[in-house]
Amino acid sequence: MPRKIVVTSALPYANGPIHIGHLVEYLQTDIWVRFQKMCGNQCFYFCADDTHGTPIMISARAAGITPEELIGKVYEEHKADFDGFYVEFDNYYSTHSPENKYFSEFIFSRLKEAGSIVKRDVEQAYCENCKMSLPDRFVRGACPQCKAEDQYGDSCEICSATYRPTELINPYCATCRAQPVVKTSEHYFFKLADYGQQLKELIDTGYTQKSVSNKLDEWFNVGLKDWDISRDGPYFGFKIPGEENKFFYVWLDAPIGYMASARNYCDKNNLDFDKVWNSDEYELYHFIGKDIMYFHALFWPAMLMGADFKTADKLFVHGFLTVDGGKMSKSRGTFIKAGTYMKYLNPEYLRYYYASKLTDNIDDIDLKTDDFINKINSDLVGKFANLASRSGPMLVKKLDARLGQLDEQGGRLINKFTTAKDHIIRDYENLKFSAVVRSIIALADEANRYVEQNQPWVTIKTDLEKTRTTLTAVINAVRILTIYLKPILPAYAQKIEKFLNVEKLKFADVETLLQNHKINEFQRLVERIDQKQVNAMIEESKQSQGPQAPAPEEAEAVVTEPFKPECTIEDFAKIDLRIAKVIKAEAVEGADKLLRLNLDVGGIQKTVFAAIAKAYKPDELAGRIVIFFANLKPRKMRFGLSEGMILASGTGGKDIFMLSADTGAKPGQKVT
Ligand code: 2FM
Ligand code: ZN
Repeated sequence: MPRKIVVTSALPYANGPIHIGHLVEYLQTDIWVRFQKMCGNQCFYFCADDTHGTPIMISARAAGITPEELIGKVYEEHKADFDGFYVEFDNYYSTHSPENKYFSEFIFSRLKEAGSIVKRDVEQAYCENCKMSLPDRFVRGACPQCKAEDQYGDSCEICSATYRPTELINPYCATCRAQPVVKTSEHYFFKLADYGQQLKELIDTGYTQKSVSNKLDEWFNVGLKDWDISRDGPYFGFKIPGEENKFFYVWLDAPIGYMASARNYCDKNNLDFDKVWNSDEYELYHFIGKDIMYFHALFWPAMLMGADFKTADKLFVHGFLTVDGGKMSKSRGTFIKAGTYMKYLNPEYLRYYYASKLTDNIDDIDLKTDDFINKINSDLVGKFANLASRSGPMLVKKLDARLGQLDEQGGRLINKFTTAKDHIIRDYENLKFSAVVRSIIALADEANRYVEQNQPWVTIKTDLEKTRTTLTAVINAVRILTIYLKPILPAYAQKIEKFLNVEKLKFADVETLLQNHKINEFQRLVERIDQKQVNAMIEESKQSQGPQAPAPEEAEAVVTEPFKPECTIEDFAKIDLRIAKVIKAEAVEGADKLLRLNLDVGGIQKTVFAAIAKAYKPDELAGRIVIFFANLKPRKMRFGLSEGMILASGTGGKDIFMLSADTGAKPGQKVT
């Protein structure tokens, strides 16, 4: 009996473009869904744009358009990116939809009836100038713990302390820099702890991978807290029934968007939604990244339990993408948008590369650009396509495009190919795509060895029928390899189907042979990658990063950052900049971004704490010349007194740059 399966990927925010980090998840899910379909299972893949929340409202304001216009435009862009990468949703919808409004209200009212919703006063930062409550990431100020300036309202990037925005010292609105006031407002809370026991049971039945459930245990041990699910207007979202100016928090209606997308699909296709979404007849799987585990392993199943819906059979969690060992970086040009990638490279190359790296665990995957080029050129071009291009043209030109029959040696080769099917299917099912790719490469190597041994380019001159027999085995090998590769390389597979003159290939076709069959003209399948294409893509990514492209971790963060208020030349003249030499640099315990620097400022010694630990190692700094802000008022930090500041520039993290070389200047000298 074919299985019936519903699959979702996390809904991307509608305030930025799809980039290669997002694509890890959509490609992983799409490969799995295509695999299920090729096994003959019914499998629906549902997704949508995640359209609500303050950042989207503010982006729209900054662009001078309505949020509806913004999300409409982004929807088209996202769709084009997904289409380009062959991500084939059965329905790609929007959380700003009537179905989603209906289910959000419905689930909320069921949770209320279950007694799981309470109201409580909260203190929140409010900007009188912007006339809105400020989400944590829209308030900035000095960290209440280490006093570092310019920190977000929820956590300090320097000492990692977490706190409430109202605790910031000298807070300001990230949009207009006005000082926010503290306002009290009544919010709705979901009593997550009511579902603690049921959630534990769910996790115990294998809802997630082991490494995820270990993390969940930590959260259970800390205790499940009530979840604030309302926001005050103005807010782009769904109004809470019975309220004038309160809205559902974006994270409440986002996962409900999975249901809404399913509902919309069922209605359009005359399917019974209750059966598809809420019965045992269908399996349900969510694919997500590890940054949103809390929402999908705790809040979302608890909401479903409280509202009397079934929960998913499994949550598949994956890690993040790094590029050449580091976080995707705008300045290094590794923050690559899907659209930019497509200008330079074939999207199937990335599908293949990610597949070759993906496993069922939550470790990050690293896109190494050299390895990427190498894998495509050696596997895809050198191994798979090569088999077809060595046999196809010869068959067509010299053997009237007709296959013969397998002999014993060819039969043995193909037998190895068919027996690999079971473990390849098992590995696909269990998300061990890198193991799938390894198996396929081993088979391709086997087939290429067979070609070397049988030398069709030699026998073609003396024995046409022997050559036909050899090439029949090669073509059958190509066909089975294509079946195994098809979930990963759908367009490549389509070209081979056309060349082989066969119907759409499925896993069941592995059992059959192609003999005495006429094939079509051979068309080129794939091109080698040239390093220049990758370089050009990285170069464009360095240049094209507008402020509207938030990094993944900035999803809820400031979208446009205005300049600070004007400052005069007289203000600037107050700053005393001096040359200083680093005597000693050392790490600071409890603050992984800080280094403690002892400076020689012309015979006077000063200590400063600088947030450069991600960019510089302590032992590379001794003896280095830096520019020192000498008359900055000393600040008492948790780790000691900071008696000034050193100057460096860059976008943060690893990208912080001090003077590049020793200029020969002497410590204490004035800098002009
Ligand atoms: O983290 C994100 O990008 C969210 N937009 C994911 C939402 S997934 C689901 F819950 F809607
Ligand atoms: Zn403001």
